[in-house]
Amino acid sequence: MQDLLTALLAKAPAELAALTTRADFEAAKARYVGPNGELTALMKQMGAVPKEQRPAMGKLINEAKAQLQAQLDATLARIGDAEIAAQLGPAVDPSLPSPDAGPGTWHPLTLVREEMCRILRKAGFTVVEGPEVETEYYCFDALNTPADHPARDAHDTFYFPERARFAGVTKKDPEEKYLLRTHTSSVQIRSMLKGPPPLRVVSPGRVYRRDTSDATHSANFHQIECLYVDKHVTVRDLKALLDYIFASLLGQDTKTRFRPHYFSYTEPSFEVDLSAKHLPKVNKAWIEIGGCGIVDPGVFEAVGYDPEVWTGYAFGMGLERLAMLLYGIDDIRYFYQNDVRFLKQFA
Ligand code: DAH
Repeated sequence: MQDLLTALLAKAPAELAALTTRADFEAAKARYVGPNGELTALMKQMGAVPKEQRPAMGKLINEAKAQLQAQLDATLARIGDAEIAAQLGPAVDPSLPSPDAGPGTWHPLTLVREEMCRILRKAGFTVVEGPEVETEYYCFDALNTPADHPARDAHDTFYFPERARFAGVTKKDPEEKYLLRTHTSSVQIRSMLKGPPPLRVVSPGRVYRRDTSDATHSANFHQIECLYVDKHVTVRDLKALLDYIFASLLGQDTKTRFRPHYFSYTEPSFEVDLSAKHLPKVNKAWIEIGGCGIVDPGVFEAVGYDPEVWTGYAFGMGLERLAMLLYGIDDIRYFYQNDVRFLKQFA
């Protein structure tokens, strides 16, 4: 029996090394350790081994089994690695010269983001950034958005599993979940918690929502958020700033209008529409562009600003929508495909 074990172990490495597919691997595994396998057959012979030899024999069999299992594990890992390598294709050589010589161009979303920031800096705003991984507190609770609000629904929002940990983002309450931020409004809270009013910040960045992608929707898109906190801030100030921004970005003929709406962090709240008939491909009289309003006192309370003293306005809008209007792009997916023929048009 000992000789049979030795023979088995002697031939296994070469045979396993020759395997290249999962199917062959499974067959080989069955031949060795399956119910009708060679090692299993040897184990079944233990009953016939004289009693005094059994402990030594048992030890040998266990060692052989462990050795064989280690070889099987290594073989499966090797086949798995080869499958991944085959899927990835040949390695990329980053030292090869670019087929597209030259310094490259700015992405249209970067162009619009930078232009918006430039326009807002001129109006006294400071550009700030917040994390894309957020906690429910910054994304919802501090923005007055209660636990049963539809925006918090798992169908609309990407939550992380309970066990996820993010070093830079601290939970206020151990029970709350991490999520990919659904809007840049979370940066309003982060900015206000950093210091006392008055405050004037603009924050562009990526946001994430569960959405199937089509010509006008993407699960990952970009927003730009503004927050202004001071004394005696009114809807007229908000309207004036929006008029100034859109006239600067899209041309003096651009008009804006407000429609009453509901957002939990502003009261009153509005949706903003644009009229910009002079732009290419604009065939609608009014185009919805974002949300805005007067900061709700509940939000000021959450960050420790006295709502009896301070007032403010906030707004948020999608950068893709703005870029599509400005450049006459009719499908949001062009932004993410990185087709040089598209990108070169913004040189
Ligand atoms: N967060 C809103 C959204 O993602 C947009 C928005 C509405 C931002 C009103 C604001 C606001 O700052 O006051 O749809």
